[in-house]
Amino acid sequence: MTDFQNLVIAPLNPTHDRTGFQCGVEALDRYLKMQAKQDIKRRISRVFVATKSDNPKTAIGYYTLSTLSIKLNQLPEKLARKLPKHPVPAALIGRLAVSNAAQGQGVGKMLLADAIKRTLAVSDQIAIYAIVVDAINENAKGFYEQFGFTRISDDSPRLFLPLKSMNL
Ligand SMILES: CC(C)(COP(=O)(O)OP(=O)(O)OC[C@H]1O[C@@H](n2cnc3c(N)ncnc32)[C@H](O)[C@@H]1OP(=O)(O)O)[C@@H](O)C(=O)NCCC(=O)NCCS
Repeated sequence: MTDFQNLVIAPLNPTHDRTGFQCGVEALDRYLKMQAKQDIKRRISRVFVATKSDNPKTAIGYYTLSTLSIKLNQLPEKLARKLPKHPVPAALIGRLAVSNAAQGQGVGKMLLADAIKRTLAVSDQIAIYAIVVDAINENAKGFYEQFGFTRISDDSPRLFLPLKSMNL
């Protein structure tokens, strides 16, 4: 298993080497190499990168964080009934990926925990009802479901986790 003490998760910066990043899903590799910097500059997403402290340049994982609003018809009726009749604010983990060599060692879990931690921190200042993830495929849905995320519907890539469910 990865030595978690040894993992650093920080905003993408110019010292990060992304050139060799490969996670098995080409679109996610391409995003980190070609698009991430531009999205940060335009304030479309924040991008956080995992490195090992003994190799602080090489990106071994990343995730993106931004905001969105969820329409009530995209939530289970049981939850929607208790909410005001307009879209609710959410944080979106749009992408999350771990390099092939680092997969299966807890890095994905640490990235998700870091995204939740950062979302909880800002939710003191800006209300956030839930965390939403866009899973790139069925495999990824399985990963998120393990941590309590619920599918919005079977034909949608989106899953969500109400912050309330974390007993806050
Ligand atoms: C999916 C992905 C992010 C998981 O990252 P990872 O570092 O390999 O996962 P971890 O080692 O942190 O696994 C944490 C837990 O999730 C489980 N898990 C990992 N992938 C899973 C999957 N596809 N389905 C169900 N459970 C999964 C692990 O068994 C582990 O369980 P445990 O804590 O009980 O041991 C990674 O495999 C990846 O980048 N895949 C390609 C890109 C992708 O599919 N991204 C998904 C989001 S768009």
